[in-house]
Amino acid sequence: MRDMSYESLTRDLHSILNSYLDLIGCDGGSIYTLQKNIKGESVLVFKAMVTRSAGIRTVPDSLKSVVFRLDESTLVGKTGLHQQVFKESYSQSQQTADGTTVENQRILTDRVINYTTYNILSAPLLTPRGDLVGVVELVNKLPTEDQPNAEFTEKDERLCAIVSSQAALAIENSTLLFEQEQILEGFVNACVTAIEARDPVTSGHSQRVCDLTLGLAEAVNKTSTGDLALIQFSATQMRELRYAAMLHDIGKISVKEDILQKEKKLFPYELELIEMRFKLMKMAIQRDFAGKKNQLEMKRHLKELDTAFSLIRSANEPHILPQEVSQGIVELTKMQVKVDDTESCCALTHYEKERLCIARGTLSREERTEIEKHVSFTYDILKMVPWSRGLESVPNIAHRHHEKLDGTGYPQKVKAEEIPVQSRMLTICDIYDALTAADRPYKAAVPVDKALSILEDEVKSGKLDPVLFKVFVESKSYLLLDFAAKPVKKVA
Ligand SMILES: [Fe+2]
Ligand SMILES: [Fe+2]
Repeated sequence: MRDMSYESLTRDLHSILNSYLDLIGCDGGSIYTLQKNIKGESVLVFKAMVTRSAGIRTVPDSLKSVVFRLDESTLVGKTGLHQQVFKESYSQSQQTADGTTVENQRILTDRVINYTTYNILSAPLLTPRGDLVGVVELVNKLPTEDQPNAEFTEKDERLCAIVSSQAALAIENSTLLFEQEQILEGFVNACVTAIEARDPVTSGHSQRVCDLTLGLAEAVNKTSTGDLALIQFSATQMRELRYAAMLHDIGKISVKEDILQKEKKLFPYELELIEMRFKLMKMAIQRDFAGKKNQLEMKRHLKELDTAFSLIRSANEPHILPQEVSQGIVELTKMQVKVDDTESCCALTHYEKERLCIARGTLSREERTEIEKHVSFTYDILKMVPWSRGLESVPNIAHRHHEKLDGTGYPQKVKAEEIPVQSRMLTICDIYDALTAADRPYKAAVPVDKALSILEDEVKSGKLDPVLFKVFVESKSYLLLDFAAKPVKKVA
């Protein structure tokens, strides 16, 4: 992620640098900010550069990666190290030195921008608490009538100090904002990790939905015709959408794990219980026929039980239940075997029959309701976060991701007018990923064409936004997904 605080700081510091130049009357200057290198050492890096006579208005690419240690080897490093103002002037011979002099930093800069530095005013940028946050260097004082020699004066130092407090504040505010963004990023990533730890089969879903949704939002931003031409998501709105997409399923944290990860209609322990009953029934039959002549009859009974159990296994799978299997399951509730003088064992209880007769998928109505609650939980959780300015709609965008334009969605069954455009995009991308993901135990991945055709049917039936879907298809936003990165899990 390109942090917004970085970009706005760069903009602000260039503006402040121009103020220095106007106020003090010099040709150019640079502002360096204090950062940590990969070893954790404090270094100064170019953040702003203006050299008016050379037409330089930003830091040249070749200088962006240059870092200066807080030591005596460069003027900027020395200023940062001692936190003092230095004024220096250079003779021609010093400017042609080979880079080993104290001023090698200026020589480097001069070479890059083809410039000659005659004098420098270098000052630390200190916060009101006295913390060093950067250094400013002003170069080549412009000659005036009062001062034809064009040297930096003590008055310039005082003027510089006034602007420096402003520059230091800008840097500190930006650092605080950046740190705040980093905390939020960390929080979002931690939440996604927590969701995926509870529901590993859908691992990667949040990130993929996020990538798809942002891709679609960018395509919307490029749309210059129709209603969407009026929509232009700002950088902050894109960030808001990113958080909403990343966290849209955070409420799954509150859904029971066995329901969340349910692969078949019966939980494994439920099928084991039925299996145990069938063993008991078989043993009872074998006991009843022990020593009797009609062994063929016994084998017929045993085979009946085997066939019944195979039917149960077949019905237990998540695919669409054929009518004949469903009827067979209903019949099994009537199958009983006497296990002793007083008790009989039935092949299937009414409860088990109900579960095995789920027409599609693996979830009973109650379990589906339980899973659907994740949207309300998502909203409740996200509402607790004190989202900063511009991000306030994250909970609402995520809350609507299962709503449909015709009011048939959940949890609130709201209609089009109450579903924000961001949620509509999220819904399209969420369904697309759920269809094409090769990671759901209860269904095979649907090919891209088929997934788009299913989405189109939803559009035609008035559930999804037709205009956004058109952009999704025409912009090929769906190709943003890196299918190679998708986890492929074998269905057990
Ligand atoms: Fe969801
Ligand atoms: Fe989702």
